[in-house]
Amino acid sequence: MTLAQKVGQMTQAERMHVSPEEVREFHIGSVLSGGGSAPGANRPADWVAMNDEYWAASMSEEDGRLAVPVLYGVDAIHGSNNVLGATVFPHNIGLGAARDPELAAEAARITAREVLATGVEWTFAPTLAVAQDVRWGRTYESFSADPEVAASYAGRIVAALQDASDGSLGPDGIAACAKHWVGDGGTTAGVDQGDTRILEEELRRVHAMPYRDALEAGALTVMVSLSMWNQRRCHAHRYLIEDVLKGEMGFQGLVVSDWNGIDQVAEEYGEAVAQAANAGIDLFMVPEQWRRFISALTSQVQSGAVPMERIDDAVRRILRVKAACGLFSRPRPAQRKWSNHSSFGSPAHRAVARRAVRKSLVLLKNEDGILPLDPAARVLVAGKNAHDRGSQCGGFTVAWQGVSGNDRIKGGTSVWEGVRAVAPHAVLSEGGSAAAAATGSGELPDGEFDVALVVIGERPYAEGMGDIRDPSPVRPGAPRMPAGPEAAAGPEDAAGPEALQPYGQSLELATLHPEDLAVIRSARARGLPVVAVLLSGRPLVVTRELAESTAFVAAWLPGSEGGGVADVLFGKAGFRGTLPFAWPANDPQGDDPPADILFPVGYGLRTK
Ligand code: BGC
Repeated sequence: MTLAQKVGQMTQAERMHVSPEEVREFHIGSVLSGGGSAPGANRPADWVAMNDEYWAASMSEEDGRLAVPVLYGVDAIHGSNNVLGATVFPHNIGLGAARDPELAAEAARITAREVLATGVEWTFAPTLAVAQDVRWGRTYESFSADPEVAASYAGRIVAALQDASDGSLGPDGIAACAKHWVGDGGTTAGVDQGDTRILEEELRRVHAMPYRDALEAGALTVMVSLSMWNQRRCHAHRYLIEDVLKGEMGFQGLVVSDWNGIDQVAEEYGEAVAQAANAGIDLFMVPEQWRRFISALTSQVQSGAVPMERIDDAVRRILRVKAACGLFSRPRPAQRKWSNHSSFGSPAHRAVARRAVRKSLVLLKNEDGILPLDPAARVLVAGKNAHDRGSQCGGFTVAWQGVSGNDRIKGGTSVWEGVRAVAPHAVLSEGGSAAAAATGSGELPDGEFDVALVVIGERPYAEGMGDIRDPSPVRPGAPRMPAGPEAAAGPEDAAGPEALQPYGQSLELATLHPEDLAVIRSARARGLPVVAVLLSGRPLVVTRELAESTAFVAAWLPGSEGGGVADVLFGKAGFRGTLPFAWPANDPQGDDPPADILFPVGYGLRTK
């Protein structure tokens, strides 16, 4: 291969910024979709058509070119979640609450099929972060604060996604990516992309632990963390990547950088590229500015700053992954077995997601044994998240930051839709609409009721925009931009760099969302017992809401199948989930994680 071909293979560009023609011309090795970046009308057929074009470009042998199939990557982190109509599973925090790695593996197998339906062969999942401070905006991507729990999922999910456990890819598999190496969940005060200030012993014992299982199960790729370890960027950390991951742990696959991650390594771009390449990064996620990367890496090799052996090692790893994926022998995306398959978003897939929802719910309070509810009861359903499939799904669903409301989550059921199906006398309060609740204008309707079911909690967010911390912009210059007609609407998508603010400054729900306590209080004022269901990406300080509710359920971010919540509320299945994170009693101050604990890891009441 020529240097240009090698450097091209080491380049990963974002679909909105690279055409098939450019993939051919620059020998681009990989293309990705940033969260929410989707072709055409964002249906599987649009994705297959797009992948077909990139594939054909990469396989061109015109003018003596070398045919190397392009590798396409997406964040399918809880289902094929970028695509309209996909089955959306609970985020990892809910799977962790279920303490059922086999069920999570079933979810991963379905995710692989729904990703293959779009002609894509690589997901940037699973996230193996072991989050230590729930103020972190990515807490919901973490299975648990307990490394053993996180590790119990890692290998099973990798093997299920890849449909093999020997570092190859089965016919129904997609390549997995263990991320983010390493210590992403240990940053001080839970600041996204921050600094993990701990001794090596703790880094290994807590944060590296799930990677052992993931690598043993044959994970083909690993993504580097945007965070630092003791003030040194992981993206330039030769010891962590070359020595520990590839050396000591024997990782043979490819290491990919995270979104513009190399830009943070050094002031001068060429220097940053050289440091990152020499640290052991093989494939560079340079979404928009891939031309600048190609010329910088080429010069660094020509000047001798990056040795040719390092380039050859990187390219060998990339080609090895492509070969392990069978890409050299798979037909073009349009002709592959699962492309455009009718199982995408099917009832059979949704049934598994619904089962995962049931098992993920954690019951924190159940006074007078009010749960399960009687399906014949007159249930007043209220709260801003009662009928909002977007909020149920959270971030990384259709758009990077997720979407609110029901319009863009095609298929599935809101909690209200699930309740309505089992409880014929249930009524949805107008005050349950997000708009009414947000302004506090939601009046509860007249009528006789037995109980109020109030669905409250957070709105969708992703990454640093979910942090609880002082307001200041995060990651300047690296927001996802909206793509495709489906992504057009919504303030979530319009976020420019200046809008990258944290979620809030307090972990207390009554401060973040006073409308939630208000709706609980208005139901109580009517003399109704309140069953509160909290949708959130993490435990929040809910002391007041808990005190004023008769029963309280942590439902995490359950995804598209709200019917699973109704199943358990009405006793079709018992509450079985247990806390994957300790539940804070107070808003933590300063750098240390919440110390005052209301319920410990493992807590959860049961019903029959
Ligand atoms: C995130 C990664 C993700 C990547 C590609 C980054 O901002 O940190 O987890 O895989 O974007 O969308």
